[in-house]
Amino acid sequence: MTSSSIDTSALEQIFSTCKLGHSIRFLPQIDSTNEEIRRGFSEGFPEGTVIIADCQTQGRGRQGRSWHSEAKAGLYISTLLKPQLPPDRLSCITLMAGVATASAIQQQTSAPIRLKWPNDILLNGKKLAGILCECLVEPDTTPAIIVGIGINLNHSHFPEEIRDIATSLKVETGKIISHTDLARQLLQNMNSEYEDFLQGKLTSLMQKWTQQSDLFGKTITVYHKDRSLTGQAIGLDLHGKLILQTPDGIQEHLDSGEVSFNSG
Ligand code: BTN
Repeated sequence: MTSSSIDTSALEQIFSTCKLGHSIRFLPQIDSTNEEIRRGFSEGFPEGTVIIADCQTQGRGRQGRSWHSEAKAGLYISTLLKPQLPPDRLSCITLMAGVATASAIQQQTSAPIRLKWPNDILLNGKKLAGILCECLVEPDTTPAIIVGIGINLNHSHFPEEIRDIATSLKVETGKIISHTDLARQLLQNMNSEYEDFLQGKLTSLMQKWTQQSDLFGKTITVYHKDRSLTGQAIGLDLHGKLILQTPDGIQEHLDSGEVSFNSG
């Protein structure tokens, strides 16, 4: 009898012959599922190993932020990818994971999920989920990517500092979502999106991402390091870069940054 929030052996059976999810390790508590994959990479974890935790003590977000990881309230999941592709293709993996995650939540809940470049998943304008991709480079091996996904499911409240910007499926829909059902849908989508990605179906990926976002046609400001750039969001290029048209007509292709919507 397990008190974990997720039935990983059922998932392992479903994904036993798939690229992602053939081996799923569940941990009641860990510092970070991304960190656990990083440790396992050095020990030879194969591609597609999945780590799921009920609780993270040092969950990581983008740009050095932490990820609030209340026990059993969220889905905290990481997987290891080893695509044999040139490094300039790897930046699309965040968008691929975003499409897989947004679609999985939508399929399970019918909630109006939206994507915000590059890694945010929003519900009713608040952050519901996030993706953290980290690159692992070791001498004489092809680079590997850790894909970490955090989804706020059953939180009733959030710490003061993120209360205004974060939300959960329970807060927004009033429903308790099954970790196992959502993880199954997510791994199914990740397998299919990753297969398409490896086959080079980047136009289709960018189309799917664009359809699930409200970004394009809007005036936005992108903050990156100590620079900010305002303009109209035009689209994504095939490297997953955001194309921003500035008021002087120049189209900038941005590879990272923090987007904020301008009012008016
Ligand atoms: C972000 O939006 O800033 C990214 C959040 C990513 C959080 C997930 S939870 C599972 C995995 N392990 C981590 O430490 N971070 C990612």
